[in-house]
Amino acid sequence: MSALALRTGSVNLGQGFPDRDGPATALEAAVTALRGGRNQYAPGPGVPELRQAVAEHQARHYGIELDPLSQVIITAGATEAVAAAVFAFVEPGEEMVVLEPYYDSYVACIEMAGGVRRPVTLQAPDFRLDVAALRAAVTDRTRTILLNTPHNPTGAMLDREELRAVADVAVEHDLVVVTDEVYEHLVFDGRTHVPLCTLPGMWDRTVTISSAGKTFSLTGWKVGWATGPADLVNTVLAAKQWLTFTNAAPLQPAVAHALTHEAGFYVELAGQLQTKRDLLVSGLRELDMDVHLPEATYFATSDVRRYGYRDAMGFCLALPERAGVVAIPAQVFYDDQDAGRHMVRWAFCKEASVIEDALERLTRADLYA
Ligand SMILES: Cc1ncc(COP(=O)(O)O)c(C=O)c1O
Repeated sequence: MSALALRTGSVNLGQGFPDRDGPATALEAAVTALRGGRNQYAPGPGVPELRQAVAEHQARHYGIELDPLSQVIITAGATEAVAAAVFAFVEPGEEMVVLEPYYDSYVACIEMAGGVRRPVTLQAPDFRLDVAALRAAVTDRTRTILLNTPHNPTGAMLDREELRAVADVAVEHDLVVVTDEVYEHLVFDGRTHVPLCTLPGMWDRTVTISSAGKTFSLTGWKVGWATGPADLVNTVLAAKQWLTFTNAAPLQPAVAHALTHEAGFYVELAGQLQTKRDLLVSGLRELDMDVHLPEATYFATSDVRRYGYRDAMGFCLALPERAGVVAIPAQVFYDDQDAGRHMVRWAFCKEASVIEDALERLTRADLYA
């Protein structure tokens, strides 16, 4: 879709990367590290100052006390942390329960591990967790749940009751939970993110994943982390050893700097994103689209059946020619394609002028099938 956007000169509301840079002091810290000779392999589990900074971040925001030496590892983005965790905990033939729609690397990793995914669909339009479906997805071959909250692509956040339901199921069936919380700070309307590992019974069985990509608008740095009890984190590290071993040596101290000194950056970013969310959602609603108001993340999802499309793939393929705008058909994030067939994902992590341009183009175009 990004190639299509380039070819047609379209406004790209498809791919989820911000068009503003991360904190200037983090960029400077990276330059200092590059010039200061920190250009050889970092230690496999990460540089000490970043592991310490991640531990302090978890304590400051969530009251989670971590030993940086045994309970924090640094990874090549959240993506590697997810991959290493899946390889660590899923043996061939074992089942992993995963929320769908899902971030696309989940499917690939579970398949590479020889595991079997058991999707639990967050049903449109409000994308709440169906607890009965979650319970039904667990079998005697299930070993793990892979959770993502705040959730890409729906923008939903699991509320306390839903988190409690996940915790109950995990404890009842003695499951490990891998939870991808990369959008932890990009939450709206005064909400606060609650890490699953803080719920009763969950600390010992939860690996929590996040990254600097979303929090500091540094998606290209691919610096992430996994935290949790030492035995689980060590198992993830054992898999990570054979994926990248280590990455981004000069960027790791720069992310440590950002975590320690730039908390204001993500508070401001969340405020800006909320304004952009409102701009996009109100614009799409004026175009008569049913749009779910996201609680977090970079993304809003709309239903395009009102335009005569039963399949949003057709809508999205026609959109660049008709309107000069690119968006993503949400069905690509589902096993149960019917559940997402009519939905389109729009990214609002863009400059307001870009969103306004896209809305003007959509307003001028004939969007009907
Ligand atoms: C849910 C989710 N997890 C992980 C990632 C990737 O994180 P990273 O760039 O740190 O690998 C993304 C990026 O879009 C995401 O949406």
